[in-house]
Amino acid sequence: MAAIRAGLVGVGPVGDRIYSCVQERGFDLAEPIRVMATRERREILGGEEVLIREIAEELFEGLDVVFFAGREGAKGASVQWGKVANDAGAYVIDNGGDFRLDPDIPLVVPEVNMDLVSEGTKFICSPNCSTIQMCVALAPLHRVARMKRIVVSTYQAASGWGARGQEELNSQIKQLACGCVEDWDPCVFCRPLALDCIPHVDAFLDNLYTKEEMKMVYETQKIFGDADIAITATAVRVPVEIGHAEAINVEFEGEMNAEQAMEILSDAAQSPGVAVIDGASTDPNYGTARDKVDLSKAPWAGHGHVDERIYPTQADVLAEQYKDATLVGRIRDDVTRPNTINLWCVADNLRKGAATNVVQIAEEMMKRGIIG
Ligand SMILES: NC(=O)c1ccc[n+]([C@@H]2O[C@H](COP(=O)([O-])OP(=O)(O)OC[C@H]3O[C@@H](n4cnc5c(N)ncnc54)[C@H](OP(=O)(O)O)[C@@H]3O)[C@@H](O)[C@H]2O)c1
Repeated sequence: MAAIRAGLVGVGPVGDRIYSCVQERGFDLAEPIRVMATRERREILGGEEVLIREIAEELFEGLDVVFFAGREGAKGASVQWGKVANDAGAYVIDNGGDFRLDPDIPLVVPEVNMDLVSEGTKFICSPNCSTIQMCVALAPLHRVARMKRIVVSTYQAASGWGARGQEELNSQIKQLACGCVEDWDPCVFCRPLALDCIPHVDAFLDNLYTKEEMKMVYETQKIFGDADIAITATAVRVPVEIGHAEAINVEFEGEMNAEQAMEILSDAAQSPGVAVIDGASTDPNYGTARDKVDLSKAPWAGHGHVDERIYPTQADVLAEQYKDATLVGRIRDDVTRPNTINLWCVADNLRKGAATNVVQIAEEMMKRGIIG
């Protein structure tokens, strides 16, 4: 496999993670990643000072692959520059939403549908962050019993809105700490996010769902190649800096129950990218997600609760061992319907929800001899 030349467009939180992820995964690079944004400057990316160049046609020359992590829309990076990169001979892997539903462009989660990518696939899209983690968690179950209906509620971090969302939450938290909450002036989110949850992610549509909610519907159907999977979503912004969580209720055509789901999702060969954190607190694995919590100090201790349970939370995705995983817990039967289960899943929206996914796609393309 020959060394490759890679480019990166956009240096917000996602671009920063792509830069780190490429270094961490030891890509054989023929030259440093060519980093581009709207204007030239030096900035720290992945802990290194990097020259960021003002995006221009000639910067795409000679590149094998370009990761796009710019803003969306007509003036966004991939709409303006994606074709330019392709014309220069580079494969494009795009984090943005502009082309995800284009029937001629594959929407790829490597654990689910990498086979859609071949030498002729010059432009590849990566799904929305909430969609990726749901597909990683559900694909192994779908392969066994085919999903019929999904009801999902999300609990999405401020960084899902980019650097400005993260900054707005952080500044509100600082203002809370100094007691100057009267000065709150939310710009990114429609209401103050610190100490609140906002059931409004992206713009409202005519059907009264938000764009984020409908992205989860259409993108998931496209990834599984099955428009008959009924999906309904509620997307909520929560005062968490990084990490999206989802409560998922899923009904299957075939036989499925919590015990089977637990077995499938715990098997690394059947469920790549999934880490199950579920079980009794007496389990010897208890405490792998975080330091052990002393349950003897919990308010319910001594009140007849035999067992407490372990489960993942958004804080867990900041742990080194889980930064690229989709964590699954709270797996249980839906007692109101047959072949239906509930589960909770958590992932880092900036890594597996964006950067890791695109870098894994490129990695797979290299393994398959498409790049390099
Ligand atoms: N945040 C998430 O959780 C998440 C998850 C999945 C997918 N995504 C998608 O990933 C992309 C990046 O997200 P982010 O959160 O990192 O965004 P962000 O904080 O808004 O950063 C966007 C970056 O793109 C650059 N940019 C914007 N328009 C450009 C153009 N026309 N030409 C060149 N560069 C341009 C900006 O340049 P300057 O720095 O020079 O302004 C900035 O560095 C978005 O499409 C987003 O929808 C985000």
